[in-house]
Amino acid sequence: MIFDRNENKEVIVLLGAGSMGTAIIRRFAHGRKILLGDISQKNLDKVCQELTYSGYDVETMIVDATDRDSINEFAKHASSLGKVMYYVHTAGASPSQASPEHILKLDMVGTGYAIDAFGQIMAEGGAGLIISSQTGYMLPIPYEVEQTILNSATDELMNIPFITETATRSGTAYMIAKRVNHLQAMKAAATTWKERRARINTISPGIIVTPLAYDEFNAPGNTYQNMIDQSAVRRTASSDEIAEAAAFLLGEHAGFITGTDLLIDGGVIASIRSGAYNLH
Ligand SMILES: NC(=O)c1ccc[n+]([C@@H]2O[C@H](COP(=O)([O-])OP(=O)(O)OC[C@H]3O[C@@H](n4cnc5c(N)ncnc54)[C@H](O)[C@@H]3O)[C@@H](O)[C@H]2O)c1
Repeated sequence: MIFDRNENKEVIVLLGAGSMGTAIIRRFAHGRKILLGDISQKNLDKVCQELTYSGYDVETMIVDATDRDSINEFAKHASSLGKVMYYVHTAGASPSQASPEHILKLDMVGTGYAIDAFGQIMAEGGAGLIISSQTGYMLPIPYEVEQTILNSATDELMNIPFITETATRSGTAYMIAKRVNHLQAMKAAATTWKERRARINTISPGIIVTPLAYDEFNAPGNTYQNMIDQSAVRRTASSDEIAEAAAFLLGEHAGFITGTDLLIDGGVIASIRSGAYNLH
């Protein structure tokens, strides 16, 4: 049976078919052609089945977000499906899940590969969204280093001394990677994506209850409980709350918003930055 006889549907691409990404697709992608990429066939099959049974038009592809060639193939396939209007990047690993090196390769360099690849194919008027993290606000990077990061190609990021010398633990690697995501999107908004007249922004979520977050809850120490207790709203959030903001940033009402980050953390960073809560 053909559910939708419309042709030339707008294409929306998600790299990282996990909890937050799927919530964004459910909130925003109905009536569009969806391409899901992930390194896990199991995740792809599960999400594809859920979405298909809810009437979404979905295709999947195995992609390794740490591999430039794999992402380039993904972007090539996406453009063969039609006008790529939306790109959403949620592929990532948290500190309890991976080594510092892997976090830098996936959360930082891999995100750069995706921004580079989709910056070649986005349709005019399109929009991209990178899911960063509140941790991108936790480890200030000196201004000169940020300028170096902004002036470096994606493949050069791993050679920046501040990054290699500071990212010796998974936690600090994650903080750096997520701050670099803000800079990567800002730079793309002003260069490659601008040339295609497409927008790109980041969202920095706080504690969102997903399997990835559960791995952090189960880590030693009380950091997460303290963050919840010290935040203004005193709770975690669900992926649906991020999806709501994502739909706004991807959609036409955000047409004047590009190159920026939206922090959605229940006030954790406000508590830290104002000195009301000492993270360490
Ligand atoms: N959950 C939170 O509290 C939280 C908070 C802030 C930021 N984030 C960030 O949000 C993003 C999404 O997190 P989530 O909670 O939905 O996690 P999730 O684990 O549900 O989703 C991540 C997805 O990325 C995929 N992935 C991992 N490595 C990959 C690779 N090499 N290539 C392709 N895909 C790969 C995984 O298979 C998974 O489907 C991550 O970048 C995470 O760091 C999460």
